Amino acid sequence: MKILNIGSINIDYVYEVDNFVKSGETIPSNNFKIFLGGKGLNQSVALAQAGSQVFHAGNINIKDDNIKKELTKWNVNIDYIKEVSESTGHAIIQVNKDGENSIIIHGGANRAFESNQIDMILKNFNQGDILLLQNEINKIPEIIEKAKNIGMKIFFNPAPMTKEVLNYPIDLVDCLIVNESEAKKLTGEDLDSDEIINLLKNKYSNTSILLTLGEKGSIYSYKTKYLKCEAMKVKAIDTTAAGDTFIGYFISHLSRDKEIKDCLSMASKAASICVTKKGGAISIPKI
Ligand code: RIB
Repeated sequence: MKILNIGSINIDYVYEVDNFVKSGETIPSNNFKIFLGGKGLNQSVALAQAGSQVFHAGNINIKDDNIKKELTKWNVNIDYIKEVSESTGHAIIQVNKDGENSIIIHGGANRAFESNQIDMILKNFNQGDILLLQNEINKIPEIIEKAKNIGMKIFFNPAPMTKEVLNYPIDLVDCLIVNESEAKKLTGEDLDSDEIINLLKNKYSNTSILLTLGEKGSIYSYKTKYLKCEAMKVKAIDTTAAGDTFIGYFISHLSRDKEIKDCLSMASKAASICVTKKGGAISIPKI
């Protein structure tokens, strides 16, 4: 069984600030760094750090081919990374004193996927292989439909959540991974975590739901199955990529037929280590 992640690749411009900039305000940053990131790339790195072989399919600008070398160092397969004329995607990230972040992304090359490129990638995968998707690239509905026809197991993390997601064929997805804010936007309801889970399960009855709750832990539910995992208590320095780390570790362990409770607990442990380090992909631990 192979794991394919068709996802974003970003260059993250990270500014450490006392507080997030407000409307009409200009503020100084305390520190500035450039890291590799993107929810797609981070999740591939997390899968690899957790011990899985992962094929990352993504687009970068022709001038940024050093990104491929970096991914290779992380043991991520780069056969399906295409060099395009659009600029590589990037993110402007503010990290405040509490380690919380605020992110603007610019899609660039991430939004330059073409139908024939999707076909070329997917023809190398078979029934039972895993496909992981986030919402930082174009053509998501088409990819979901094509992968479902092949019989791939689809994991979808609708981050960042946009209004377009409401029209995506989420009922074809095997596992939907959302945080509380994404779940709220997807359901249109502001409910507690158990009520959200129930609502999502009613809406997508053949899809397992993984709800991540940050420092409050995570919940997995499918049909009659319901498992809750507490998060480890740590002092957060930078929460960037914590969710991505959780997702990569969860899928890696699940793909090796580990019990769900163990997948949740490994994912939670890895994410809690991630928040103690600065940066995106670089902060994803190997445990
Ligand atoms: O999830 C964190 C990531 O979101 C960052 O690396 C940034 O690139 C944005 O995609």
